[in-house]
Amino acid sequence: MMYRVQDGTRTATTGIELQKVTKHFAGTRTAAGYTAVRDVDLAVRPGEFMCILGPSGCGKSTLLHMMAGFERPSTGAILMDGHQIVRPGADRGVVFQNEIALFPWLNVERNVEYGLKVRGVAKQQRLQAVNDALTLVGLEQHRKKLPRELSGGMKQRVQIARVLANDPRVMLMDEPYGALDAQTRMRLQDELVDVWQRKSKTVVFVTHDVSESVYLADRVAVMTAGPAARIKSIFEVDLPRARNRTDARFVELASALTAELHHGKEHGDGNN
Ligand SMILES: Nc1ncnc2c1ncn2[C@@H]1O[C@H](COP(=O)(O)OP(=O)(O)O)[C@@H](O)[C@H]1O
Ligand SMILES: [Mg+2]
Repeated sequence: MMYRVQDGTRTATTGIELQKVTKHFAGTRTAAGYTAVRDVDLAVRPGEFMCILGPSGCGKSTLLHMMAGFERPSTGAILMDGHQIVRPGADRGVVFQNEIALFPWLNVERNVEYGLKVRGVAKQQRLQAVNDALTLVGLEQHRKKLPRELSGGMKQRVQIARVLANDPRVMLMDEPYGALDAQTRMRLQDELVDVWQRKSKTVVFVTHDVSESVYLADRVAVMTAGPAARIKSIFEVDLPRARNRTDARFVELASALTAELHHGKEHGDGNN
C-alpha cells in the first residue's frame, strides 16, 4: 500500500514503495546472468528509519541503487510520490560506504556546496544551507580542510552534511559506517538518530551489522542470501530512544535477528 500524507490540496507521499522488484544482471557469472534480488516488496513509511539487513553480497546495494535511481529494476517498480523512480533526484540523498563520493580537490565546504551549485541555488541560500549542514554534523571548525586531511569519521560527516544541505526527504545510506572504528561508529550512529529526529527525514539504511540495525531502526527488513534474494521478514524495533545496547530487550532482539540472518544463509551462495 502507499502511505499518503495530506498536505492541503497536494497529496505528498514521502515513503518509498518497492513492488515486486527483480534485478537481473545479464551474462556476468554465466551466460544466463545473475539474478541478485527477486520479487522484493517493501513499503518504507514517510519519516521512518528503515534498516535493510542482510549478509554480504545478498543485494542490499543493488536495492539501494535502484531506490536512488542509479539503476532500474529488471521487472517491478519503485515508487515515490506515486511516481516511478527512474533517475537520481535531489529528493533522495545518498551516503556511500567510503569517501569516493567526495571530490579530493575541494575542501569541506565546497564539497558540501557542490550539489547546490549544480542545481543553480543562489549564493546566499547556498551559504546558509552549507553552514546549517556543517553545524548539524559538527564540522564548522573543519570547513577549509581537504578530504585527505580528515579522519574516516569526518569524511562520513562531510557526506552526510552534503546530503543534508540538499534537504532531501529521503536519505539512502549504504553501510556508511562500515569502515569506521567502533567508537566513531557509535558516535556517528547517535548523531544520525539526532539529525533524523530533528529534520524528520525518511531513512533507508543498509547494513550487515545486526547491532547497528537494532540501534538505529524503527523496522529492520531482513534479506535472505542471494541469488534471487528476497526480504524474508520485517522486525519492529519497539525500543525507546536513546537505546541501550546492553538492555535485555535489545540483546534479545539482536539475537533473534542474528538467528534469522543465519537461517537465511543456507538458501544461497552468499559470496562477495
Ligand atoms: N553490475 C553488476 N553486474 C553483475 N553482478 C552484480 C552487479 N552488481 C552487483 N552484482 C551482484 O549482485 C549480488 C548483490 O550485490 P550487492 O547488491 O553489491 O550486495 P551487498 O550490497 O548486499 O553486499 C552480488 O552477487 C554481486 O556480485
Ligand atoms: Mg553493498
